[in-house]
Amino acid sequence: MVLVAQELPLVCLMLLLLCREPGVDAQAGQDFTVQQPQAKVTVTAGETLTLICITSGVAGPGPMKWLKGWGRGSKTVYDQNNEDPSSRVTRAVNGSDTNFTIHIRNVQPEDMGTYYCVKFVIGMTGVSQVFKHGSGSEVTVQAKPSPPLVSGPEQRARPDKSVPFTCTTGGFFPDKIDVKWFKNGNPMTAQPPQVTQSRMKTYNMSSTVQVTLQKDDARSQITCEVTHPTLPAPLQGSFQLSRVLRVPPSIDVQPEPSPAEVNKTVAFTCLLKEFYPAKVSISWLENGIRIKGQNLSGPLEVSRGLFELRSRVEVQATEEKNGSTITCRVVHNGQAPANYSAILWISNTAQGGFQMDKGANVLSSLLLLLSMGVLLEKGLLGCLLLFVFKRMNRKASEMLPYPAAPQSPAPAVGSQGLATVSSDL
Ligand SMILES: *[C@@H]1O[C@H](CO)[C@@H](O)[C@H](O)[C@H]1NC(C)=O
Ligand SMILES: *[C@@H]1O[C@H](CO)[C@@H](O)[C@H](O)[C@H]1NC(C)=O
Ligand SMILES: *[C@@H]1O[C@H](CO)[C@@H](O)[C@H](O)[C@H]1NC(C)=O
Ligand SMILES: *[C@@H]1O[C@H](CO)[C@@H](O)[C@H](O)[C@H]1NC(C)=O
Ligand SMILES: *[C@@H]1O[C@H](CO)[C@@H](O)[C@H](O)[C@H]1NC(C)=O
Repeated sequence: MVLVAQELPLVCLMLLLLCREPGVDAQAGQDFTVQQPQAKVTVTAGETLTLICITSGVAGPGPMKWLKGWGRGSKTVYDQNNEDPSSRVTRAVNGSDTNFTIHIRNVQPEDMGTYYCVKFVIGMTGVSQVFKHGSGSEVTVQAKPSPPLVSGPEQRARPDKSVPFTCTTGGFFPDKIDVKWFKNGNPMTAQPPQVTQSRMKTYNMSSTVQVTLQKDDARSQITCEVTHPTLPAPLQGSFQLSRVLRVPPSIDVQPEPSPAEVNKTVAFTCLLKEFYPAKVSISWLENGIRIKGQNLSGPLEVSRGLFELRSRVEVQATEEKNGSTITCRVVHNGQAPANYSAILWISNTAQGGFQMDKGANVLSSLLLLLSMGVLLEKGLLGCLLLFVFKRMNRKASEMLPYPAAPQSPAPAVGSQGLATVSSDL
């Protein structure tokens, strides 16, 4: 009994040593240090991250590891005893016993966190246990925003309509981002951008601007310009307003001549001015019944990106068509058809009427010349002749069956009229 009692402290001490640091030299463990000189590291996404770890002193058997995070949820990114050749993580100095610096290739925002360089030792049960670790390196991964995309309304809109445009970009870190809008290079005012957290610690941004469309915007563009600390120069995204603009044509239908002469051809011209886009279809109707027209050209770009088109239809002005409605129906860019009409008026002026009148005019000029010549030679006789001819002329005018229509001359029959009156002389 006594002997056992005397030996007890020694046995206890031995047991304690065995329990505390099994298989580890207590003195060697004491001066073992792990150093992580980088408290904070900032790296840009896609680059290689270097995490420095230097050990000194001697420790018991067990691997060096790199952990991301601490405690529950921490992840092993490198394990000295279990190197993975396909991993993004490689040692800076292969096989070194003191330098456990690692490289992480193609670093991503999700790699953000605090990394610990840790010395494990194998416990009595054969399980690795944390022995010593560095003070941690906090890694920030800056990420560039994706190229900005500008989207506009689904449907085309007319001038004077205010339509929203949205600029989006994503995947950036940190969240500080600046957005500017321009129309044809001129700054526009917009709401402050909406920044939201996206997957894996990066941010998305959305900015909206209202644009009041103008008639001459077919060649305009709006630009969204994004500035972020990771970008050496701002990124831009653009939108052509021609994609959303719809300028309806101004339409006019004109018959030529009007009123028309009986049995002559009348041309109706439908003029479509200043429209966009060029897509338009034209059809002609006579009293609601389709007739065949002819385009004078395809849509022509005339000014500021706007188009013009002339279509023509010829109608025979027979008497029974007097008062007919000739319609130019225009379907512009899938819109509801628009009808523009003109009435075919046929004048009831008979052909002979103003021909006679014209003939009489030519006659009086001739008579004037003639009388001047005669006056010089025959004096009185000349005066008498002039008097007679003038009376004849007046008579001819009084004989005209219809009032003159000087705005509608018909030169083809003019000579015939002159011949008739001349024979009367
Ligand atoms: C963030 O932006 C990216 C593209 O930049 C997109 O794929 C993703 O769906 C966006 N996430 C959210 C939450 O809006
Ligand atoms: C017009 O043409 C019709 C048919 O050819 C004919 O009957 C009519 O007399 C013509 N009218 C005139 C004014 O020439
Ligand atoms: C004239 O042009 C318009 C628009 O391009 C088209 O809809 C129409 O069919 C054309 N008509 C003819 C006769 O070519
Ligand atoms: C034009 O005429 C067509 C057929 O007569 C009709 O369906 C359409 O509604 C008309 N458009 C207008 C603007 O009156
Ligand atoms: C055509 O109609 C108009 C108006 O009703 C009339 O003044 C004109 O005399 C008519 N023309 C013919 C040739 O009947």
